[in-house]
Amino acid sequence: MPFPIHRPRRLRRNESLRRMVRETSLTPADFILPLFVCAGYGVRREIASMPGCHQISVDQVVGECREIAELGVPAVLLFGLPERKDEQGSQASAERGPVQEAVRAIKSAALDLIVITDVCLCEYTSHGHCGIVEGGDVVNDSTLDLLAREALSHVRAGADIVAPSDMMDGRVQAIRGALDGNGFDHISIMSYAAKYCSGFYGPFREAADSAPQFGDRRSYQMDPANGREALKEVAMDIEEGADLVMIKPALAYFDLIRQVRDRFVVPVVAYNVSGEYAMVKAAARNGWLDERRVVMEILTGIKRAGADLIITYHAKDAARWLGDDRK
Ligand code: PBG
Repeated sequence: MPFPIHRPRRLRRNESLRRMVRETSLTPADFILPLFVCAGYGVRREIASMPGCHQISVDQVVGECREIAELGVPAVLLFGLPERKDEQGSQASAERGPVQEAVRAIKSAALDLIVITDVCLCEYTSHGHCGIVEGGDVVNDSTLDLLAREALSHVRAGADIVAPSDMMDGRVQAIRGALDGNGFDHISIMSYAAKYCSGFYGPFREAADSAPQFGDRRSYQMDPANGREALKEVAMDIEEGADLVMIKPALAYFDLIRQVRDRFVVPVVAYNVSGEYAMVKAAARNGWLDERRVVMEILTGIKRAGADLIITYHAKDAARWLGDDRK
């Protein structure tokens, strides 16, 4: 056997060659940045476990969004921190809630920015679960109506896309019905279709003050061991009317991002969640890894796995770095 004819290193000799044969490229247009909106005025409170991320009041939102739009990031995903919580999460559909107010503010600033709202009850319920609790259990069907009402209130305020993250069965259909019945058949639904019950949401629960006060979310979020079930969840959500589907978290679920991308034709979104962000930040702060390099590698990997869009707390940094690279 002679020395191999094929020498893959030939195409790695210099950056010009590497760039020419590069299979995956990132752009700021791939990103969606989550924002945490709270009540009050002039609030900009850093989230301890998510350095670089803040809870901000409505008056700060437009400035923040202007910066995001200027970086070429096309969309934000809004989460709300209400002033008070109750058993039913009634503030979720309050006309003057932080999310509704933030949506109105962004839309009246006429920025080139898509506003997506997270539709869930866990930030609004006193028990911290994503639905109504009866006899210690999260009940499905009576939760649907509340989610539909919440989605409708976001859309009435001007949201472009609603993103249900509760994992109740049938919520996409319930929300689609409520939107269509009220003249919003042009508004899209991005469903958290395959959302796993994950330890990687830890920092988010501090950010959104949404930790369950008893038990956990295993009776509604998916078991991390199940892959085929994710395909079923995605198929069901598309059937019910989801326009975009999401896999969440991202890093431990690359196999599903790829399979969903190969089997379905709707845009696939991956959520690079709070714990994935926090791990990178913590290690970088210790000088244990190079933040920029690792972030770009993670985001490129998520895209290579098959994601069309990536929800990530790194969006602003990554967009800036991509801009620097082009100079
Ligand atoms: C609300 C919701 C959660 C996240 C997004 N929407 C938390 C949860 O389900 O416990 C997690 C996002 C993140 O960790 O970045 N249901």
